[in-house]
Parts: sequence; structure tokens; C-alpha cells
Amino acid sequence: MKKSNIYFLLFVIGLLLNACTYDFIVKEELPPIDTTVDILFATQIAPIFTNGCVACHKTGGQAPDLSSAALAYSNIKSMNLVNTATPATSLIYTYPSPTTTIHTWKKYSAAEAQLVLTWIQQGAKNN
Ligand code: HEC
Repeated sequence: MKKSNIYFLLFVIGLLLNACTYDFIVKEELPPIDTTVDILFATQIAPIFTNGCVACHKTGGQAPDLSSAALAYSNIKSMNLVNTATPATSLIYTYPSPTTTIHTWKKYSAAEAQLVLTWIQQGAKNN
């Protein structure tokens, strides 16, 4: 085989292998949430903040201070980060959402975003 043909063959094989890689991208499947059961702020929402946000959103750091459940709740309320009339527009939900382009520091996982949105839809209670 001519050298140029071998290169062409390798090029085609490369294209084929490359095309196959797209098959491996699996979309994250979310387990359904029972929205009739209250999401609890203290045990389900606040831990998302203490695990993923307090590196920056701590006392003396970036607002809102999310360093404890009590502080997180009062700051979310005082900074108007929840909108119970149109929950999907709440900043505490949209700002670090998985698809955000404004807050690239840290994003919710899809499951975390779903929990936060459901909690707001249920009235953003301090429960
Ligand atoms: C690496 C640092 C860092 C981490 C981690 C981080 N943030 Fe932020 N966050 C910032 C900075 C800096 C700003 C302000 C600048 C901006 O708007 O991006 C901000 C702004 C915000 C705002 C907007 C506040 C306002 O004034 O309207 C919200 C809401 C927010 N962050 C929520 C979160 C949540 C929830 C998490 C955890 C999932 C998180 N952040 C994790 C750095 C961080």
C-alpha cells in the first residue's frame, strides 16, 4: 500500500473512533422527587451549602453568608434570593444552577438544583 493511502486509512479510522465516543455521553437521570413530601431546609438544603458553598460564602466572606442553616436561611430571605411567586426565577436557584454562566465558581448538581427548586415551590420554609 502507498504511504499516502495508509495515512488516509488511519484518518478514516480516526474519524470512526471519534464518532463512536459520542455514544458514551450519558445524560444524568434524576430520581423523581415526591413533591407532596416537604423538603426540609435544615437537613436537605443547608447541607448543600455547607458542603459546596462555604469555602467562599462564609462569615466575613462573600455574601450571602451560608455558613450555618440559621444564617443561610436569614440571609437568603434578607437578600431576597427566593421568589415564591415564581420559584424558577429565585436567585438562590438560578445563580449557581448547573447551566449558569454568571457564577462559574461552583454550580449545583442537577439533583441539588432540583431539591432547591422544589423547596422554593413548597414555600421556602424554614423547616
Ligand atoms: C469559589 C468561591 C465560591 C463558591 C464555592 C461559591 N460561590 Fe457563590 N459567589 C461567589 C462570588 C465571588 C460571588 C459574587 C460575584 C458573582 O456574582 O459571581 C458569588 C455570588 C453568589 C450569589 C449571588 C449573590 C448576590 O449578591 O446576588 C449567590 C446566590 C451564590 N453566590 C450562591 C452560591 C451557592 C448556593 C454556592 C454553593 C453551591 C456558591 N455560591 C458557591 C463565589 C463562590
